[in-house]
Formats: sequence, structure tokens, C-alpha cells
Amino acid sequence: MARCAGRSLGALSIGLSALVAACGAERHPQTTLDPASDIARDIAGLQAMIFWWILGVLVVVTAVLVYVLFRFRQRPGAPPPRRIHGNNTLEILWTLGPAVIVALILVPTVRTIFRSYQEAPEGAVRVEAIGHQWWWEFRYPDLGVVTANQIHVPVGRPVHLSLSSADVLHNFWAPRLAGKRYTYPRLPGPGGERENFNVLLFTVEEPGAYSGQCAEFCGTSHAHMRFRVVAMGERAFDDWVADMGGGGPPAAEEDPGGIEPEDDGGASATATAQDTVARIPSDAQVEQGRALFAARPCVACHAVQGVSQGALGPSLTRFGDRWSIGAGALANTQENLEAWIEDPGAIKPEAKMPGARVAGGGMPPTNLTDEEVAAIAAYLLSLK
Ligand code: CUA
Repeated sequence: MARCAGRSLGALSIGLSALVAACGAERHPQTTLDPASDIARDIAGLQAMIFWWILGVLVVVTAVLVYVLFRFRQRPGAPPPRRIHGNNTLEILWTLGPAVIVALILVPTVRTIFRSYQEAPEGAVRVEAIGHQWWWEFRYPDLGVVTANQIHVPVGRPVHLSLSSADVLHNFWAPRLAGKRYTYPRLPGPGGERENFNVLLFTVEEPGAYSGQCAEFCGTSHAHMRFRVVAMGERAFDDWVADMGGGGPPAAEEDPGGIEPEDDGGASATATAQDTVARIPSDAQVEQGRALFAARPCVACHAVQGVSQGALGPSLTRFGDRWSIGAGALANTQENLEAWIEDPGAIKPEAKMPGARVAGGGMPPTNLTDEEVAAIAAYLLSLK
């Protein structure tokens, strides 16, 4: 009896300590117990509700068991216990009880699932998230922005993700923002391949950088398929969109509307271009890197807003602002970036990018010298 009670108390304390220990998002950036979006909060609420139901069932069952063990224990000279067979009231109760508990868990669970599966509501930021081996492509169809491994969203506005995959099954998971969701590859169809979207709708409630990762084993470098969701205020988000070369809905450009000539689209476009040029340091190494980037194989696969259009690899627009290299493989520093350009496969096994002296992804080595690698790294880091 003592052992049984001890075990129950042990289970209870494990449950409670797990609940308390997992709360701090600073120490555990991928905790589900410190939600930062509407859907994640609903999911954490479900988790807590189920925890309390489980705890209640454990306490009731343990209490009955302890009572029976004590009340009917063997005593010297006591008669054998009376045998009973069947008890309709008890049987109905222990069938109905669990059925009611399951229903109370089921209804809010199904409701939450469907809430996260809705179509984009009015005013939502629409993002296409495409899983690749092994990085994430993020496209904003309404804003004309393409980025990789780091998604920017405004706080307080619904974000609607259309999830798909360019190759195998991946899974988008930012634990503080939403549950896991699969990205499906395209499906073969009569008129060629067709898209096969999954969707996820959530609203981030606090500014911050939320880490996420691919949650489905998708090949050698699955562990290096991480991403970050950066949530910011509306103004900061608009600035980010402008810096990424995006704009508002196309209709705004088609209709000049304004009466002051200095406010026309052409003038603001020039101002933006001047800002972009001014932001790049006139450092000779950066200039050399810029020229090399445009002349060497880099541009065949990578896009940089206003410079190149390559779409096979991740977009590098404003790469200097990214938190990582290679979808979470390395911190984004000059030294690490040089090591990456030298030999990506040594850092991220089977990365589909050739190194300076190593072939990769079906492409020959880039044959860049150490000096050229350093220049290109300096150029990419200057893109902010
Ligand atoms: Cu993509 Cu694991």
C-alpha cells in the first residue's frame, strides 16, 4: 500500500515539476507551455485541461484503490470477504463517466484544430511556406517579397500560411506559435503537377523571435532545417517589406492618384534605391564581393533583390539580417560564412551547394580563392 501511494505521489510530482520547469521561454525557446499566439494559447489550454482531467482520474482511482486495500486487508480471525457479482449502477457509472470526460476533451480539441485550418480572413498576411531539403522558402504573394529561413510577421494581425513542399514531406513547427503542420509535395495530375496545400492560421500576440524547425524526418540534414518567426509592430513590418523590395498591393502603383508631383511613385522609388545604396558600406572588400557574387555561379541559384533572380537555392536578400547560415546550421558571422562558402557539405551533410573546392548538389566546385570567399562573405553580410 505504501509503495502504491509513494508511486502516485511520484507521478504527481513528475507531472507538476515538468509543468513548472518547462515554463521559461528564455531557457527553452521551443516550449509549448509559454504560448505567444492565439492558437498556441488554445493548444496550451487544452494541454492544461487534459492534465487536470488525468490528475483527477488518478486521484479518484488511487483513493478508491487505497481504501479497498486498507478496508479489506487480511486480519487474523476475520471471515473471508462476501462475494458479489455484477452491479448495474457501478457499470453504468464507469462507462458514462469516461465517455463524458472524453466528450469534454474532444469538443474543444476539434474546435481548435478547425480554427487553425481556416481560410485567410480579411486583412491577413498571406505567406506561402515551401519546404525544401533542407531549408524553408517564404513567399508573400500580396507583397512581392521572397525570403528564406526567417519569416517576418506583424503582431496582432492574422498570418495565413499555405504550406507545401518542393520535394519530400516536411513539417512546419514553431512550438510557441502553433502545432506541427505537414508540408506536402506536389501531386501528379492530368495537366502536370499540381499544388497540394496545407494551411495554418495564427495571430502572434507578442513581438519577438520565435524559433521553429522541421518536425518530420526528411533526410540527412533534417536537423539543420530550422527557421525563425520574427514578430514586429505594423510600422516595423512595413519597413521590412519596403527594405525587402516589396510593396503594397499592385493596385496602388497602377493608380497614381496623388496630386503633388514630388509624391509620385517614381520619386519614392528613387529615394528607396538611394537608401539601399547608402546602406552598403563602400568598403573595397564588399565591392569586390558584390562584383564576384554577380559574376560567379552564386547568381545561378540565389536571388538578391535588385541583383539576381536565381530560385534554386534560398533567397539572400538582406542576408546580413538573418540569424543563421544554412537554416540554423551556424551563427551568421563573417568567419562562419567563409567556412560555409568553402565547404557547405562539411557543415551541413549533403547540402545542395558546391564548395570552393568540392562539388555539391550536382554542381562542380566554384573554384573561389580564399580571398574571393572572404569578399563574397563580406558582401552578403553587408546586405541589411
Ligand atoms: Cu524537412 Cu525534416
